[in-house]
Amino acid sequence: MITIKTAEEIAIMRRASQIVAEVLDALAAAVRPGISTDELDALAERLTLERGARPAFKGYKPGEVVYPKSLCVSINEEIVHGIPSGRKLRAGDIVGLDYGVVYDGFYGDAARTVPVGGISENARRLLSVTREALYAGIAKAHAGNRISDIARAVQAVAENAGYSVVTDFAGHGIGRRLHEDPQVPNYFRRGMPNPRLQEGMTIAIEPMVNEGSPELEILADGWTAVTADGKLSAHFEHSIAITSNGPIILSELDNV
Ligand code: MF3
Ligand code: CO
Repeated sequence: MITIKTAEEIAIMRRASQIVAEVLDALAAAVRPGISTDELDALAERLTLERGARPAFKGYKPGEVVYPKSLCVSINEEIVHGIPSGRKLRAGDIVGLDYGVVYDGFYGDAARTVPVGGISENARRLLSVTREALYAGIAKAHAGNRISDIARAVQAVAENAGYSVVTDFAGHGIGRRLHEDPQVPNYFRRGMPNPRLQEGMTIAIEPMVNEGSPELEILADGWTAVTADGKLSAHFEHSIAITSNGPIILSELDNV
């Protein structure tokens, strides 16, 4: 069931998502060679609690294994859901930072992939194409369009650049729960659930783009998704609201 949010509910979701954006800005600024992913996790948690919110992912258990940390940190061939640890970032890595909070009963969720020190030209291009795919999807998030309009736009940007989109994970509705209907895939397939977009819908669009094949494996920790071919992957995500004025990006800071 797709829940439609009131303007008041969207205002709360905006606050939740703005907290996510503030935390991601702080994390991106803290990223440097030598910092451990546990240090990033601790920073995210502290900044969240200071803002009167709580981390959304810690303790989340959609399947067998509970997610143990606040932040997802996915390095290089890791696609999503990398678990913070003592591992230290190295110059030349790309690092996906995926974060969510709950504030006043509503969730915010966003992600970006950032360079650690200097990175290769290939890696830089993958980051810019994945970000561009996200914004192409957002541009289609108008009432009257369908989920497939978002999906096709995301997929076209990734594939026209010679990359592939991950099909085993998708974006999602968001609100009083982290994952609500509808699913927001990053690819189009005939016969897929394809609801029409309406004012008051709130969704998270989150392309995961692979340099090579879309195949993935899940590591023994039960969470970390990695590319099967070991090539790089990038991830960008925004929580957005569909309004009569078009899409509003809830998780982009308004004061910049
Ligand atoms: N942005 C991711 C998602 O929407 C984050 C979920 S991580 C989890 O699926 F640990 F909470 F599962
Ligand atoms: Co998400």
